[in-house]
Amino acid sequence: MQLIDTHCHLTFDELAGDVEAVIARSRDAGVTGWITVGTDTHHNRKAIELAHKYENMYATVGIHPHDAKEVTDQAIRQLHALAQNKKVVAIGETGLDFHYDHSPRDRQADVFTAHLQLAQELNLPVIIHSREAFDETMDVLQRCAPDLKKVVFHCFSGSADRATIVLDRGFYISFTGVVTFKNAEVIRQAAKIVPVDRLMLETDSPYMSPEPMRKQKINEPALMLHTAKFLAELKGMDLPDFAAAVTAISKSFFNLPD
Ligand code: NI
Repeated sequence: MQLIDTHCHLTFDELAGDVEAVIARSRDAGVTGWITVGTDTHHNRKAIELAHKYENMYATVGIHPHDAKEVTDQAIRQLHALAQNKKVVAIGETGLDFHYDHSPRDRQADVFTAHLQLAQELNLPVIIHSREAFDETMDVLQRCAPDLKKVVFHCFSGSADRATIVLDRGFYISFTGVVTFKNAEVIRQAAKIVPVDRLMLETDSPYMSPEPMRKQKINEPALMLHTAKFLAELKGMDLPDFAAAVTAISKSFFNLPD
């Protein structure tokens, strides 16, 4: 069995000091591919550096909406340069976060738009972070990048109705361990209707360990196996079949080699 953690943050302090062991445990659990996601210039560089050290590890570059207020033209130019590295497989995470509102909303939208333009120019998929900003996120995507199809809503936490809207636009949906939480019935209803050829898996580690490991403070890619088992059962599939399907779609979405 082969699973790919399509969204982890291996450069964050909680994991960065121990990557060798984290990767070894991950391989033992059948999670044999990783996309380490950049969130600012520092982590974008680190992610690329790390990805060059491991086979089956890839990086993405983006500036988190939290930091939109600090983004300069120079930062966007840097992003453009970094995005052309051969280990970079997507732009993001980018989007809108109206939960924390760490940056003004119009500034978040501008930076999000700049990411979408970059993705179109370089023909790269986009990883979306959207929190309490669903309609606005869909609106920016429609207005600024109507032809972009390789778009994944990461850590999806919406309802089945919202999942339907995302799917109808031709986009993809990625689930973290949050889908296993006891209070996540709404997300489970969404997961039920997402076809396996539009569904991806991620840990978003070091955050949000899945059940039954929720007490493990620092999440890591190995634990994605629990989320995979959980969703396979939810969808009434054997784990190996489910894993094969989501791995195939992850590879095709991010243009990963076979
Ligand atoms: Ni993330």
